[in-house]
Amino acid sequence: ADPDPVQDFCVAVAPGGHNNASSSSSTYPGFPCKPASTVVSDDFFFAAHAGGASTDNPMGAGVTPGNVEAFPGLNTLGLSINRVDLAPGGVNPLHTHPRSAELVHVEAGEMLVGFVSTEGRFYSKVVRAGESFVIPRGMVHFQYNVGKGAARAMTVFNSQLPGVVLAAQTLFGADPEIPDDVLAKSFQVDADTIKLLKSKFQKG
Ligand code: GLV
Ligand code: MN
Repeated sequence: ADPDPVQDFCVAVAPGGHNNASSSSSTYPGFPCKPASTVVSDDFFFAAHAGGASTDNPMGAGVTPGNVEAFPGLNTLGLSINRVDLAPGGVNPLHTHPRSAELVHVEAGEMLVGFVSTEGRFYSKVVRAGESFVIPRGMVHFQYNVGKGAARAMTVFNSQLPGVVLAAQTLFGADPEIPDDVLAKSFQVDADTIKLLKSKFQKG
């Protein structure tokens, strides 16, 4: 989904700390490159996925990102990788990636992986260790641990910075808030139901 590279590599100069908006407005189509003479083997190496993120949270899920912000060597290469850890019963909650498809490769345990198409069709599979499932770009999707033990997947993207829109967080945790009336009308429920949902997702 990203533009094609125009050189062998372009290791990003300290992209950490940039957010999507600043990177796209100031350095489109990626981050500035380190001078090639200062590039070393470690720029192409990423070790953060040797361990997983904690799943000790209400979702029972931990995602360790491996996008260009975490792994500067990915700059201009059009791909990235996350590690997803799920406790038994844990869910990586409904979300979309506006800039990328996602290949989910399960390494341990078993997950129900699913997405909904623009036609409103729900496609899903229980995916086990060694198996993969693909989420088309922009589709709302999740992973849900349906096994007895911990589950782990690597998720691979055809973008260096796929972006993530968390469905519940976006709608009920926006800052400033989306008006209750708009949400109540959109979901065809009363304002109290919206307030309850907001209470789960508002920060601070
Ligand atoms: C999983 O859906 C991920 O975005 O890493
Ligand atoms: Mn995803």
